[in-house]
Order: sequence, then structure tokens, then C-alpha cells
Amino acid sequence: MLITIDDAVTRLAGGDVVALPSETVYGLAGLALNEQAIAKIYALKGRPATNPLIVHVAHLQQAEELCYVNSQAKRVGEAYWPGPITLVLPKKKSVPGLVTAGNQTVAIRIPRHPVFLEVLTRLNQPLAAPSANPSNRTSPTEARHVEELFGKKCPPTVDGGKCAVGLESTVLDLSGDQPTILRPGLITRAQIQDCLQRQVGLFQDPSPDPPAKEGQTGRNQGAPSPGMGSVHYAPRTPLALYPTVEEFLISAKFKPGDLVIVADGKDATQLDAKGYLTTPLSTDGCPEEVAQNLYGVLIELDAKNAPSMHLIFTGAREGINRAIWDRLYRAETK
Ligand code: TXA
Ligand code: MG
Repeated sequence: MLITIDDAVTRLAGGDVVALPSETVYGLAGLALNEQAIAKIYALKGRPATNPLIVHVAHLQQAEELCYVNSQAKRVGEAYWPGPITLVLPKKKSVPGLVTAGNQTVAIRIPRHPVFLEVLTRLNQPLAAPSANPSNRTSPTEARHVEELFGKKCPPTVDGGKCAVGLESTVLDLSGDQPTILRPGLITRAQIQDCLQRQVGLFQDPSPDPPAKEGQTGRNQGAPSPGMGSVHYAPRTPLALYPTVEEFLISAKFKPGDLVIVADGKDATQLDAKGYLTTPLSTDGCPEEVAQNLYGVLIELDAKNAPSMHLIFTGAREGINRAIWDRLYRAETK
């Protein structure tokens, strides 16, 4: 059911959960300081209680009521908030342990989407919001995807259009001595290093250079962030990944009825000429455009119940493409 901003504010203030658009993906929001609302979020997502939620605030002052905003956090916040970066910081007592899964840190973000910001401002209370998908499924980037993913259990949703970013926020841990990216996103490691004028670590990276070939190990299996298990963001249709068109063409995995996705629309021409029916994620491989379209295409093609999906992504593993590779490796059928 689609609802208005007014209705969303009323429902949230009453302790209910609603889906809201953010610039990254749609979020399943509830009052962050209300344990019943938080419990509803976990139950609806089927999310393990060990995986903490991101708390969204309207401004820095509100963040300071919830956590210790150190000088590094102030720098990153001033540079990128409101925007697609989440900071993990030492929490204050006001934040219930349920939100942080018992951790002494809390993940905080000021979102940039005007609808999310308006709801936060009108409520004048922080909102916890994980992505609005059942646990381990692909995150929604349009209001109709929330319904596609939840079916009859779909939460009331404010339609804020298609998300501009399309990938979940960068998660940056600034709670310890070493700044560390727990989840890559649109705001890149290079940008954060520039901003902090120091080296930033990258944890739990499933996409090393070069990608691990079959039979080799090499993908980092560490688990620094409770929610970053290696299976995540996954469609139900089996998904195979290829770093070049040639590798797709020589692979024996393609079967009639399978769907082919190309990140770079220029690759579609030669494949279409060979009779493959391809769906492009961008006209020319622009990483922002690939990121924006990726989840929507995965969700929509997943609904076609094809035997398999094949995705060709030739982007280098750096910058924004690193975040795309991270999500693709998690979505890939192992
Ligand atoms: O873009 C986004 O971040 C979206 C929108 C709605 O804001 N939200 C989102 O939330 O992606 P979620 O719950 O799907 O992902 C939050 C990630 C998880 O990997 C979780 O483990 C991590 O942030 N996280 C949350 N609190 C943490 C903490 N205290 N320490 C370490 N990781 C934390
Ligand atoms: Mg999520």
C-alpha cells in the first residue's frame, strides 16, 4: 500500500514501521528509541538479532545525542552528509541494545532523500532503517520493488521515485584507532582517505584483485561487520558472473531460456547479434548508472523465473565499481 508522508509520520510516531525512500535504497523505518518498533523491523525482515541496524538522523546535533561524534566523524560528516555514508561510532546510553545488536557502537547516517529528511525533521526523532527487503534478498530501489519482495507482508510505503544511488551506503567504522570501510559504496575509499588525510582499511572484501578463480581461495572471509556474511543481496534465480564477454561466450553454463545482463550496453550489440536477449544496466558502463540500475534489473528479471541469469561486468575493481563487485559477488550463486 502506498501512503503519504503525513500518513508515514503518523504511523511512525505511533510505533509502526513503514518503508521510506532514501537516496541509496528504500529503508524499512521505525523509531530508533522504541524497542517495540525495532522488534517489528527485525520480525518483518526475518533478520537475525545479531545484525545491527543503521540509525538515521536529520542533523549532526541529533547524532550527538546518540553517539560520540569524534573529530574524524565530524570531518567525514561535514564532507558527505546528508549523503550515502554511514559512520560506526561509540554509542551513548540512549540507544537501545536491540538496535545495535548488543554492540557498544552504533551506525549513524544523515540521508539525502528529501522524503526521508522531511519525515525525520517532522518526527524530530531518529529512525532505525535497514534496507526494505526480507533478509538476504536484493535491496529495493523503487517503491514497487518493496511490494515485489514482501508480497502480502508488504509494509505501507512512501513512493519517492527511483533511488539515485541504487547501492546501500558506504559503512565506515570510525569507532577505533584505524578507520575501516566495512561495506564499500558510492563514497569511495580514495574519497575518504582524501577527507581524513590518512590510510583507510577495507574489511570483508569478497572481491580481491584479480578475482579468485574456481578452485582457488583468496576471497576474504573475515566478518568484521555482523551483517556482511558472504551470501547477501541475492536473487532467487541462480546468477553467474563474468568479467569479460569472452568468458561468457566460452562458458558452457548458458541454457535456452536463461537471461543475460550486461553492465555496459555497448556489449549488448555483439551479444544481440548472436541471438542472446540482453538487458543493459547502462549505455556505456558508467559506474553510477550501473549502480543505480543493478538491483532493479535483478529484482525484475528474478520475477521472470528463468532457469538462470548471467551477468557480464567488465568494470575494474576500484572506485564505485569496487562496491558493485562487492554486491555482485554476494549475489552470485556459489
Ligand atoms: O544505504 C543504506 O545504508 C540503507 C538505507 C536504508 O539507509 N540501509 C541499509 O541498512 O543498508 P542494512 O541494515 O541493510 O545494512 C546495515 C549494515 C549491515 O551490514 C550492518 O551489519 C552494519 O550496517 N552495521 C550496523 N550497525 C553496525 C555496527 N554497530 N557495527 C558494525 N556494523 C554495523
Ligand atoms: Mg540490507
